[in-house]
Amino acid sequence: MADAAGQSAHPPVSTSGIHNDPFLTAIPSLREVLSPQRFPEPTSSATPSFYFLDAPTSTGTTAPTYLPDAHPPFDVYAVRNDFPILREQVNGHPLVWFDNAATTQKPRSVIERITRFYEHENSNIHRAAHELAARSTDAYEQARDIVARFIGASSAEEIIFVRGATEGINLIAQTWGRKNIRAGDEIIISHLEHHANIVPWQMLAAETGAQLKVIPVDDNGELLLGEYTRLLSDRTKLVSVTHVSNALGTITPVREIVAEAQRAGAVTLVDGAQSVPHTSIDVRSIGADFFVFSGHKLFGPTGIGVVYGKSEILQDVPPWQGGGNMISDVTLERSLFQPPPGRFEAGTGNIADAVGLGAAIEYVERLGMDAIARYEHHLLEYATPRVAAVRGVRLVGTAADKASVLSFVMDGYEPIEVGRALNEQGIAVRAGHHCAQPILRRLGLEATVRPSFAFYNTCAEIDRMVAALDQLAARSPR
Ligand SMILES: Cc1ncc(COP(=O)(O)O)c(C=O)c1O
Repeated sequence: MADAAGQSAHPPVSTSGIHNDPFLTAIPSLREVLSPQRFPEPTSSATPSFYFLDAPTSTGTTAPTYLPDAHPPFDVYAVRNDFPILREQVNGHPLVWFDNAATTQKPRSVIERITRFYEHENSNIHRAAHELAARSTDAYEQARDIVARFIGASSAEEIIFVRGATEGINLIAQTWGRKNIRAGDEIIISHLEHHANIVPWQMLAAETGAQLKVIPVDDNGELLLGEYTRLLSDRTKLVSVTHVSNALGTITPVREIVAEAQRAGAVTLVDGAQSVPHTSIDVRSIGADFFVFSGHKLFGPTGIGVVYGKSEILQDVPPWQGGGNMISDVTLERSLFQPPPGRFEAGTGNIADAVGLGAAIEYVERLGMDAIARYEHHLLEYATPRVAAVRGVRLVGTAADKASVLSFVMDGYEPIEVGRALNEQGIAVRAGHHCAQPILRRLGLEATVRPSFAFYNTCAEIDRMVAALDQLAARSPR
């Protein structure tokens, strides 16, 4: 990036030994690529504007070289060392993990934190006078504090630990929803939703007689906001939308959506399962009443996730499951419940993995969410024109504003065949409906191939995938 005088804020990058590097070719912007015209052949004359550069070395690995930019460099190869699984070989090739939208890999600090919990702290929480109960309670509640800080909640009391985004949405549907939704009320979702943000509302609507309304999308996979405005009315009780589409990568304008819903008097829920890993989140600036996400998509363990609820709304939400931990007093005639969040955490929760989620958040905070977002954007900009240029490939989901997902179909092959062919070369991508059948059907498809990126991925890995796709295209039966 150049300063006001046109000078770089950093010393010029050395290009010795990297003349073959793809970053030294002109890369069209996502907008250009996603326009109907095919992107032009790369030329080698222009210097790209990216701040980070992969440079192949003689060892076959790649070392980072930095382009002039106002941002500090992001050393992906140092980051990769933090993830033991990235050294795995699959079918004789180094693993390429491009299935990050399904789940992410875990840094050593998370693995070690869980081990430390079981070696030194393991106990049930909140219930005993002994030392280990105090340690495990402290660790668990500290994780809640970390989550609250990470997403900008007003206090840790607004953070409820659940199994994941799916359980979080079900919790809200079965508690707030059952209390507040009646026959004739309307719930608005979007066409982009994961099944986790469709099915719980269908179940609630069937139970209550409420109606489900859907914000439509255009052919690029962008929400039609004018249609959304027309759907809102005084019958709208809830608007529940995804922040990032898991099938297409579309980033939705959640602030606008929430603000409009609030003007109509509706409660709002944002499904942050696919946004939390890729961008910094401030729930207060988004403004939604509820926000949910899963720990395992944020480099944390499986089986732990979060419901954020504004404290003023949580006070009035009835409990979901009954049992230990969530009560303040029980007689055989009646029970009194804890205030939030304890009221929503019946039974023994996933203590160790909550602690592991705290460690995952501290890890990404050390890297910096803004640096992560910039680097991943650059990976997507690198991958998009190259995948689009493979013969017979059609990108699916071409919104201008996207995060880390590149869905496509390929002439002559079912998505699952492409997935298997890539797996033979050690490259893990998802192929299928991605638990988002309505949006794929809206675009005339039952399945796509879906590479999805995280900050430990590299341009060299994208090159490997593109080369494998080129080989497949060359063998195409059609
Ligand atoms: C957008 C979105 N919402 C919800 C979920 C459900 O997450 P989980 O299976 O972790 O509960 C996913 C998982 O892929 C998702 O991508």
